[in-house]
Amino acid sequence: MFNKRITIKDLLASEQTNYQATVMGWVRTFRNNQFIALNDGSTNNNIQVVAELGKFDDNLLKRLTTGACIKATGEVIPSLGKGQKVELKADAIEILGDSDAEKFPLQPKKHSLEFLREVAHLRFRTNTFGAVFRVRHSLAFAIHKFFNDKGFVYLHTPIITASDAEGAGEMFRVTTLPVDGTAPKNDDGSINFKEDFFGRSTNLTVSGQLEGELAAMAFSNIYTFGPTFRAENSNTTRHLAEFWMIEPEVAFNDLEDNMNLAEEFIKYVIRHAMENNKEDLEFLAQRLEEEEKQKPQAERSELGLIDKLNFVVNNEFQRLTYTEAIDILRESNHNKKKKFQYLVDKWGVDLQSEHERYLVEKHFKKPVILTDYPAEIKAFYMRLNENCEPGRQTVAAMDILAPGIGEIVGGSQREERMERLLKRMEEMHIPAEELWWYLDTRRFGSCPHAGFGLGFERLVQFVTGMGNIRDVIPFPRYPKSAEF
Ligand code: 4AD
Ligand code: MG
Repeated sequence: MFNKRITIKDLLASEQTNYQATVMGWVRTFRNNQFIALNDGSTNNNIQVVAELGKFDDNLLKRLTTGACIKATGEVIPSLGKGQKVELKADAIEILGDSDAEKFPLQPKKHSLEFLREVAHLRFRTNTFGAVFRVRHSLAFAIHKFFNDKGFVYLHTPIITASDAEGAGEMFRVTTLPVDGTAPKNDDGSINFKEDFFGRSTNLTVSGQLEGELAAMAFSNIYTFGPTFRAENSNTTRHLAEFWMIEPEVAFNDLEDNMNLAEEFIKYVIRHAMENNKEDLEFLAQRLEEEEKQKPQAERSELGLIDKLNFVVNNEFQRLTYTEAIDILRESNHNKKKKFQYLVDKWGVDLQSEHERYLVEKHFKKPVILTDYPAEIKAFYMRLNENCEPGRQTVAAMDILAPGIGEIVGGSQREERMERLLKRMEEMHIPAEELWWYLDTRRFGSCPHAGFGLGFERLVQFVTGMGNIRDVIPFPRYPKSAEF
């Protein structure tokens, strides 16, 4: 058996000394031809491996370069140096993999996040990305635990579908037909997808919700957690073409139950990360603080990362309707002084992220749940509200807006009434024949139900304080970029 190592995290955590141990990892730095800072990704902290002067061959010492992978065996002893309790006094050092110091792109210094994106295959070996992806893991685990403990069934919804769940038409096509112009055609010149692999036109899913609803009509509580795809040409710090989404769907829940579930869920997973990723979050908080210092005073956030997370888990989210939000925005000094790029003038307009951020960061200074949006600007499956003011038809929708992020959750109570759903689909040009299976749930034992979608990367951004969504997913997909 080769692998008899102790992880660096465990080694550093134990107070014990004077025993033999083996560690393996990647060299971060090698100082004074004597001190190796070694990291194996179990923690951001390095173990100091001491190669006593004169004990090792010069040829070996030369190969201890940044990035090299080594195995070191020796005695764990109390450390004289600052910042660590123990270190490893090496008896044997073996190079497992050399790293050419001239060519290795990561130097023992601070690199920009933009540069590190270009070497995303190696950026896991930096402190920032080590911390980010351990927190990401922890959040994913907490999500499964939260729903599992509540008796939800984890549903795997298809990645390839023939439907557009959001009706927004932002889909990546999936086909095996040739793209050189020789694909079979219909009489009218359009491509004949009957000849395609699935015998129809298919795309990558934008959401697992519709399939999720089918399963909720049997298990009562389900959730999905998988990749979703949007071909929107958005070059922002909040959008990816491939992102992960968590979509719970619950039979017998109304909009208020839905909001309660979402708020409890978000607080639970943040708390989990705070309890299980203390060191990583403290590191990220420090990183953010330094980054903030570069900004002009007015743009700096008032709270540090840990304080912000504490604030969110300990305070109730502000709940208000779209109509109330529009009134606040219209009356705001920001709007009157024309500081918004898109001025808020009339009821019915879609909210831009500048408006969402104003409400969250300037007005309420806490997460906000906006409800009851105009039907016009929301998806076909959302439940029509009763007794609306004339000309102001709303739906039982809810969006959760987070400080620094904007929309983190989108959800609604679903339209469970067949007649209304059909009418809505017709108005919005959603082909009912293609969604016959979705409509069947309204034919056979329909019931009130609700659900939401949480964008996983936006959650990871919020918890880690990372400014760009491209830095919280291992290999980001965005316009003009699909490297790695
Ligand atoms: O608001 P959206 O489009 O809602 C749905 O897809 C519903 N089917 C969810 C449901 O009710 N089951 O997307 C949900 C969330 C957004 O609030 C946002 O956090 C995230 O998904 N999201 C994105 N994240 C990264 N990049 C993108 N391009 C995103 N588009 C949406
Ligand atoms: Mg949305």
